[in-house]
Order: sequence, then C-alpha cells, then structure tokens
Amino acid sequence: MNKLEIVILAAGEGKRMRSRVPKVLHELAGQPLLGHVVDTAISLHPDRIHVVYGHGGQRVPEALPQLPVQWVLQAEQKGTGHAVIQAIPQIDQGATVLVLYGDVPLVKKCTLEAVVAAVSDSSLGLLTVNLDDATGYGRIVKDNDDQVLAIVEEQDANSGERQIREINTGILAVRGGMLKRWLGGLGRANAQGEYYLTDCIAAAVADGISVQTVHPGCEEEVLGVNDCQQLARLERYYQRQQARALMAGGVTLRDPERLDVRGELLCGRDVVIDVNAVFEGRVVLGDEVHIGANTVIRNAEIGSGTIIQPNCIFEDAVVGKNARIGPFSRLRPETQLADAVHIGNFVEIKKSSVAHGSKINHLSYVGDSEVGRGVNIGAGTITCNYDGANKFKTLIGDNSFIGSGTQLVAPVTVGEGATIGAGSTITRDTPKGELTLARARQQSVKGWRRPKKK
Ligand code: UD1
Ligand code: CA
Repeated sequence: MNKLEIVILAAGEGKRMRSRVPKVLHELAGQPLLGHVVDTAISLHPDRIHVVYGHGGQRVPEALPQLPVQWVLQAEQKGTGHAVIQAIPQIDQGATVLVLYGDVPLVKKCTLEAVVAAVSDSSLGLLTVNLDDATGYGRIVKDNDDQVLAIVEEQDANSGERQIREINTGILAVRGGMLKRWLGGLGRANAQGEYYLTDCIAAAVADGISVQTVHPGCEEEVLGVNDCQQLARLERYYQRQQARALMAGGVTLRDPERLDVRGELLCGRDVVIDVNAVFEGRVVLGDEVHIGANTVIRNAEIGSGTIIQPNCIFEDAVVGKNARIGPFSRLRPETQLADAVHIGNFVEIKKSSVAHGSKINHLSYVGDSEVGRGVNIGAGTITCNYDGANKFKTLIGDNSFIGSGTQLVAPVTVGEGATIGAGSTITRDTPKGELTLARARQQSVKGWRRPKKK
C-alpha cells in the first residue's frame, strides 16, 4: 500500500463572503468549514494532512490549533497549482496525494475512497459531476472515446467548451512524484494569470496517464461555499440529513425543517423533539425524553422519561430520569439534577447538585449549592453566593422547606428538615427540623393618617 498524504487548499480569500473572517473559518453546523474537511480527511487514515493557508495570515492556524495537520503557508495566492506546490517539499513522492478544498465541507469518505482507489502508477482519480448550470466551473474536456483530455477553466473556455456540463470539483488524487513533475511545468499564460492545478490533467494525458473520473453520491457533496447563500444552503442540506437519520432511528421530530444539530445528538427510544430545538456539542437523550419548542441544549445528558418544556437553555448539565424542567429554565455549567427533580419557570441553576425529587419551581437562582432530597424551594429564592471577589457554597439539607422570597447568604447550611419562613435573609446555619425566620416583625400603626394635599 502506498502512503496517503492529503493536501487541503485553504489559502483563498473568499471575497464573496464579504467578511473579515477567513472563509474556511465560517461555520457549518457549529464547526468551521475547514474542521469538517479535516474530519473527513482523518477518517481516511492518511499518513499526513497538509493545510495550505495564506489569506488572513495566521488567523486560520491560530483559530484551529488542535487540528492534527501540517500548516503550509502560501504567502501570495497565485492559484490552485501554486498552492499545491507549497506543500510538495513535505510530500513523499511515492505517496498517493489527495487534494481537497477547505471550502467544500460535505464531501463524503466513500467518495474520496473511490478517488484514491482510482490512483495507480498509470492512472489518477478526478472527482467530477454533471451540473445543469456549470457556470463558473472548470469543464472536463473529453475525446470521442469518453477519455478525459484536459480541464478548461470557464474564463479560458471557448463557446463550445462552455456547453460542457461535466465539471471539475477540484478534488483529485495522484502519485506525489507525478504531481511534482507536472506542477513544475505549470505556466500562468491564462485568463487569470494563475498557476492552475487543473493544467496537470493535460500534462498527465501527455504522459500517457489515464484520468479516471469518479462521481459523488449527490451534488451537495461537492458544492463549495463562496457566499453566505451557499453556506446557508449547505447548512440546511446538512441539517436535513441529520433530521432524516434521527427519524430513521425512531425519533419523532415535529418538524424536521426546524431542527439544528451542531455536534452529536444521541437519542434513546421514543424521543419527541418539538420545533426550533438546537443541540450543540454532545447531547444524549434517554428513552421517552420530550424536548419542548425553542430549546437550546449544549453538552448535556438527559435521563429517560424527562420532559423539557419550551424555552429552556442548558449548558454542560446532567439531568436525571423523570424530571420536569421548564418552561423558561436555565441550567448552567456543572448542574447535576437527580431523578424526579422539578425545575420551573425563570429558575437559573449553576454549579449545583439537586438530589432526588426536589422542586425549585419559580423565579429562583441556585448557584454553588448542594440541594438535598425532597427539598422544596419557594418562589424567588436566591442563593447569594458571591461577595464580589469570592464564591461560597450553600448546603440545603434533605426534606427542608425554603419559604418564598428567601435569600441564603453563603457560606450557609440549612439543616435537614428545616423550614425557613418566607422573606427571610439567612446569614447563619439553620438547625435541623426547626422553623427559622429572619425578617422584621410586621407592625400596624393605629390611627395613622395618610398625608393629604393642601
Ligand atoms: C477551481 C478550479 C475549477 C473548479 C473549481 C471548483 C482551478 C484553476 N480551478 O476554480 O476547475 O471547477 O475550483 O470549485 O483549480 N486556493 C488557494 N490558493 C490559491 C487559490 C486558491 O489555497 O492561490 C484555494 C481556495 O481557498 C479554494 C480552492 O483553492 O479552497 C479553490 O480556489 P478557487 O479560487 O475557489 O477556485 P476556482 O476559481 O473556483
Ligand atoms: Ca471556488
């Protein structure tokens, strides 16, 4: 087996995005375009991946430092051929080299495997597709025996060649040594004054190398992103695919057109997802979980039988089984809710655990806290966890009852089974099983008269 080296071209400016952000950093399904291409490249288990960057300077490598790739600078963008030339010194001549584009994010592994499989010492693989409207693309010129002769760029094509509907996707694979030789012979006597990678095809034919064309499963696989409309089109296509896969796995989507999965969503049986749900990062939903409308869930695990009512936002949270959350609940990072917990409207929970069966049903903030089992936290309860510099913990014992409008000034512990009277400001630990009140006594002033206007 020959080595496999992958070169991803990502140095272009992407003028039509009309953005300060380099094109390959624009996101599709929550991940930069280039990240999608690198993920697909990795799935082919190559020996090395080279990313040619240039426009936007160090912004691209700096934005994606975790990618397992060799970064190759193309200081000036003099064309696709010139871009590949920059990587040639790093490439093993005996290797099969696969060229991908950083702005063509949805190409599939199996398609690329077919392109790579077309490579031998006497052939190269070229990914082409027939389009109804081929405007703007390089056209595949063939002879009467249907053998590829050359690629002609739109701007260099004559009117006959412009009628050709088979286009160059840009993706090809060939032996490193041959690629090096042909690139060395490139000129820039063309309409754009660039070194065209596509001119390698005619050079290959002249060398007696046969060009094997491979086609993608569908057009979207090879569509590039040049402007915001194309980006939106690919985003929707990608989301429809995810929706289809979820439904095939038995998930009920109230409307597959109104679902966004920006990461990985794993669902148990009989999961129901209402409209406008957004899932980010890794989200795991147990059996029979219901997700209400307009919910955003990032990096969370939700146990079986739990119902999430509309308009909730979760981030880095774990929710147990048979819980009831929402509407309008916010679970912030490091929230852990046990089974059968109820969290209601306008309740925010941060870095806290809530044990089995406890309820926080209305208008509360619980942060840096440990809430025991069977606790009832009344409306408008606030854990005052922050003094402007430090954060402190609130511990709330099992089966305690916190009256409405209570402030728990941390650090503080509410004993097991304790009751706190409504409207209390609790600054010291409260004893087990007793009623604690910390509020001014109510008084009425007899005979008091309201002032009158003169
Ligand atoms: C290229 C192909 C064309 C094909 C089309 C498919 C050439 C000469 N033409 O045209 O046949 O139909 O793609 O979309 O190859 N890039 C660099 N450095 C450069 C120039 C480009 O890294 O100096 C990168 C871009 O970032 C992009 C890719 O190469 O990812 C393609 O460049 P682009 O300018 O879009 O090529 P096209 O003119 O569209
Ligand atoms: Ca392009």
